[in-house]
Amino acid sequence: MWTGVRTFSSRKTLITGAASGIGRATALAAARRGARLVLTDVNSDGLDATVADIRAAGGVVEYAQAMDVSDYDAVTAFAEQVHQRVGPLDVVMNVAGISTWGTVENLEHKHWKRLVDVNLMGPIHIIENFIPPMIAAGNGGALVNVSSAAGLMAFPWHAAYSASKFGLRGVSEVLRFDLERHRIAVHLVVPGAVDTPLVQTVDVVGVDREDPRIQAWIKRFRRHAKKPEEVAESILRGVEKGRYLIHTQFDIRFGYWWVRKFAWPYEFAMRRANDLFTTFLPREQPQVRIETPAPEPELEAVRPVELKTSRPEA
Ligand SMILES: NC(=O)c1ccc[n+]([C@@H]2O[C@H](COP(=O)([O-])OP(=O)(O)OC[C@H]3O[C@@H](n4cnc5c(N)ncnc54)[C@H](O)[C@@H]3O)[C@@H](O)[C@H]2O)c1
Repeated sequence: MWTGVRTFSSRKTLITGAASGIGRATALAAARRGARLVLTDVNSDGLDATVADIRAAGGVVEYAQAMDVSDYDAVTAFAEQVHQRVGPLDVVMNVAGISTWGTVENLEHKHWKRLVDVNLMGPIHIIENFIPPMIAAGNGGALVNVSSAAGLMAFPWHAAYSASKFGLRGVSEVLRFDLERHRIAVHLVVPGAVDTPLVQTVDVVGVDREDPRIQAWIKRFRRHAKKPEEVAESILRGVEKGRYLIHTQFDIRFGYWWVRKFAWPYEFAMRRANDLFTTFLPREQPQVRIETPAPEPELEAVRPVELKTSRPEA
């Protein structure tokens, strides 16, 4: 029997991050395919705009509510509303996310924590609240987790972002097999560069974003980036075709193939990328001060313990 969903038509589909970028484009594309949508985002104005656009085009939004996916209680309250109004879902899509880059000396604890809270714990909160009712309903379905190329490879300054995206990949890799018996297909989406508002809002800690070299680099990134509408199409097609790993662009598919086949060129490319990024750092880097404790008052010399060994009598 088929695992997953072959069509979005009439499927009750939750999309997080629906106010902007990939989430918004996926919501619009799923609506055109006849999905019955449940939408959420932390940005309520953006969410309202997506809902209005979908309804104006004749699409169906069953329920929409703004909330922060990193807040477990908020997700639980949202899930209660959804289940009361529309019952168990058919498709759950974790798209909401944020991005922060920086070297380990520049990243602060709050950056690491926020990335893990939003990009990893957010999808986990959604999974905890929405997948068990899908299992209980016994109708199968699909779970779509949007990770990143940075969930496959080591891009410079992405340690905190990659912590969250590799984590989401780990969750997906396990659930892929755990949920198969319930006919729920798991799909892991690994986009490369996508031209969304995220590109403008990504927080690069410790460098001046207004630096013309950074602006030139962002321009290059955007020229090379896919449009969110193209990515949305790849995601929906990947789900309909039952693909686990959903690539949205050739460069990442090819790059990841190199990573698995040939370590050396990958390591070479990542080292060169690191060299390039290092040139963006200001000369004055944060000084790491290590406090050395005051010397302890002299300890009494420790007397060695005498070990008595008895030698067998000759
Ligand atoms: N743009 C890229 O190049 C790119 C590449 C790879 C992966 N991704 C991933 O794709 C996903 C979508 O990103 P995008 O590029 O469309 O960005 P985006 O900024 O356009 O959209 C992200 C949406 O998530 C919402 N969001 C952020 N924090 C939230 C929270 N705590 N709770 C609920 N909603 C929240 C935002 O309000 C926004 O509407 C993210 O998970 C991102 O990591 C993006």
